[in-house]
Amino acid sequence: VAPLKVGIAGLGTVGAEVVRLIETQARVLAGRSGRGIRVVAVTARSKAKNRGIDLRGVEWAKDPMALATHPEIDCFVELMGGAGDPALSAVDAALGAGKSVVTANKALLAKHGLKLAKAAEKHGGALNFEAAVGAAIPVIKTLREGLAGTGINRVYGILNGTCNYILTRMEQEGLSFAECLKDAQRLGYAEANPSFDVDGHDTAQKLAILASLAFGTKVAQSAVYVEGISSIAPEDLRAAADLGYRVKLLGVAVRTAKGIEQRVHPTMVPKSSSIAQVMGVTNAVTIDGEGIPPITLVGPGAGGAATASAVVADIADVARGIRANPFGRPISQLRDTKKAPMERH
Ligand code: HSE
Repeated sequence: VAPLKVGIAGLGTVGAEVVRLIETQARVLAGRSGRGIRVVAVTARSKAKNRGIDLRGVEWAKDPMALATHPEIDCFVELMGGAGDPALSAVDAALGAGKSVVTANKALLAKHGLKLAKAAEKHGGALNFEAAVGAAIPVIKTLREGLAGTGINRVYGILNGTCNYILTRMEQEGLSFAECLKDAQRLGYAEANPSFDVDGHDTAQKLAILASLAFGTKVAQSAVYVEGISSIAPEDLRAAADLGYRVKLLGVAVRTAKGIEQRVHPTMVPKSSSIAQVMGVTNAVTIDGEGIPPITLVGPGAGGAATASAVVADIADVARGIRANPFGRPISQLRDTKKAPMERH
């Protein structure tokens, strides 16, 4: 069988790690997929930068659009980020050309997921985005495949590694917000614009994606109430600790009689609760399914290696010929998101 030919747009921390994994895990991936996976072309802002990866024999496409529509490529891997262009038009063009797309871009999916899923459905390519939520944690697959036969009432958790890292270090070491954020950026956890992390938008984007998969509704980021952590100081965390609480930035999506309630805000959680034990860059997602006790997935939620792990798994699915409905069901079956009024909890 011919190898799957992959084009990668974006060679930052995640992109470079994807190239490395495809090479070092080649035998395992070929075993699982039944065929080889080959990076044939890439594109990135700087060609000169030393990324510590071997790109000999790999073509440099002139720009993301040229890569997305490259006749040699079966699978376009978008790791540039951003809800708009160039990511949006490149992904749209790749899907329009019948190619499969793998992306880690939650901002793009939260805003244009429905349109892109329609293009995938129409032209037959896969649209895989496991890395968009919870990095290495297989939360998309859990909701879409693992719990396909179970009604979901609630999904909630810690969905932003940068915020949880900041809150953890502020609490444990009494460091300032700004110092902790700087470290999160240095470690490659934060978004290019870290206000997406600390103001809660990254969590809101991920929550909107999870809610769509959980409830069979159209992704609706605008229906999410958002409040971030940027005004929290070490003293606030100390005051919460004195009362037996820890502060966590939670994303919560609940199915109610009045519609879907989606909210992101700092929350005081009892220190003895399991969610309070989730520290550092770790993410945790709890899913309440009908008739079964809650399921919680915990793991690394940001960083190059953790994100690349999910991207490569998605590429392996494309190589195997697996094509899931991106949001769990055909577009025609996704319901509109009815926004429930916010209840106090
Ligand atoms: N900036 C994101 C985070 C990266 O900190 O969780 C992973 O989506």
